Amino acid sequence: MIIDATHISWKRKNKVVLRDVTWQVRKGEHWSLVGLNGSGKTTMLKMINGYIWPTSGTLSVLDHPFGTVDLRLLRRKIGWVSSALAARLSSGDDPLSIVLSGKFASIGLYDKPTDDDRNKAAELMERLQCSSFVGRDYSTLSEGERQRVLIARALMASPELLILDEPCNGLDIFAREHLLSLIRQLASSPEAPTMIFVTHHVGEILPCFEHTLLLKNGGVYQAGLTRDLMTPEKMTQFYGGDVIVERHGTRLSLALRS
Ligand SMILES: Nc1ncnc2c1ncn2[C@@H]1O[C@H](COP(=O)(O)OP(=O)(O)O)[C@@H](O)[C@H]1O
Ligand SMILES: [Mg+2]
Repeated sequence: MIIDATHISWKRKNKVVLRDVTWQVRKGEHWSLVGLNGSGKTTMLKMINGYIWPTSGTLSVLDHPFGTVDLRLLRRKIGWVSSALAARLSSGDDPLSIVLSGKFASIGLYDKPTDDDRNKAAELMERLQCSSFVGRDYSTLSEGERQRVLIARALMASPELLILDEPCNGLDIFAREHLLSLIRQLASSPEAPTMIFVTHHVGEILPCFEHTLLLKNGGVYQAGLTRDLMTPEKMTQFYGGDVIVERHGTRLSLALRS
């Protein structure tokens, strides 16, 4: 079991941010985690990564019940790509050092990389189509290019779980589709870690994320197979009726009802 959350809640003062969430992710499954802004997605990820603890309920990640494991070791087995991480990287670094630093799940390079590390970094950069960025300054990369570097970095530690928190935010339609096609290739490779794709935008959900958890107001709205949940009818209900949801091939598109 990769994630085993049973009736977990997280409360802050008067606010219930997560309410009675039960969610099981098994090895080899790929999930999309979907909810509007403020529905509790990032809070859930913080909990999975051990930065916050459930106020009630039990949580076990990679078969380690919380409270019994060194979180720093656990975090090395989890790749978490988020805008918070992107903001913490120093802009002057070159993309290769950033990818290499993923081996130690650290910001900046502390240990001297081996030849194997360099080969692996080069291979990952090739896979994420970042090879041509070597020698450039990270700050000169476009949003989409940065996301690709961050994913390569996350894979450097050979994580058992890879979390992509709203990776398409800020991307134009071409950069988004390019990134999604690389994510699709990653997810379909046999050696892929279990992946969680987090988004507020149902149009980004790829069929390779065959399971979906829908979060609404901090609670589980529904969980199940993506093909069962991602129907125009169910998604219109999820969004509260004011949207028009249409199917385009294997993906959905969304517009406000005027
Ligand atoms: N430390 C905190 N204290 C109080 N409220 C918080 C805290 N962290 C998040 N929240 C609130 O919890 C809700 C869910 O936030 P978040 O998990 O970031 O949502 P999402 O990632 O789905 O957009 C938001 O209303 C946010 O303001
Ligand atoms: Mg978020």
